[in-house]
Amino acid sequence: MTRKALIAGNWKMHLTVEEACTLAREVIQAVPTGADDREVLIAPPFTALREVGKMLVSSHVLLSGQNVCWEKNGAFTGEIAPAMLKDCGASHAIIGHSERRQIFHESDEMIHKRVTGALKYGISPVLCIGETLKERESEQTFTVLETQVKAGLRGISPDDMQKVVVAYEPVWAIGTGKTASKEQAQEAHVFIREVIAKLYEKTIAEKLRILYGGSVKPANIDELMSQPDIDGALVGGAALDGASFARIINFTV
Ligand code: PGA
Repeated sequence: MTRKALIAGNWKMHLTVEEACTLAREVIQAVPTGADDREVLIAPPFTALREVGKMLVSSHVLLSGQNVCWEKNGAFTGEIAPAMLKDCGASHAIIGHSERRQIFHESDEMIHKRVTGALKYGISPVLCIGETLKERESEQTFTVLETQVKAGLRGISPDDMQKVVVAYEPVWAIGTGKTASKEQAQEAHVFIREVIAKLYEKTIAEKLRILYGGSVKPANIDELMSQPDIDGALVGGAALDGASFARIINFTV
């Protein structure tokens, strides 16, 4: 089974519209021509989605929101609807990022609503899961991952599962410079795939792309991507630098 690699850049709460467009241009130029073994996705802040989206139309780079609401429209101050993301040219939305879970107290229940709503209205979820340092140290990693996978994907049909991407992001590795070792990441990815195989069936688990996130940088992307169950990366800090992200996109195994 060969899964197409996905390299995703999460720009978080950074960049003006002009800066975002400059970076988007660098990303477009960094995608190797004719490379059909990998896809590139960028998630600018909401304010830059429309302008960046226009730039990506004739490129091979895909666009993502950093979050998405479950409702079509309505009184949801501060939220963004799936149709609004699509209107800007986005195909994906990051959901359940640890910063949403930890700082903004988004629960598994809310994340599940976001995943369901995204799929209902045609946006592919990039569902983020991962354990904290305390959970890893108390050997709860697998329990946490299983709980988050099951809660986030509850009731999702096998058909819709083809549109889902999962990102394993150990909270202790995000923005800290500490990357999970390739063995730790591979072990977690295998476990996640096993949970999916039990919930659905093996072929669906085999097709699911599982990204690793947490201090991915030019120096560690190749070894991470050499692992059989690591299908891509969700990159924060290093995605804000055109040259670093270009190197990550052009990983070699
Ligand atoms: P980082 O962030 O690469 O800066 O660790 C990753 C993420 O939060 O998705």
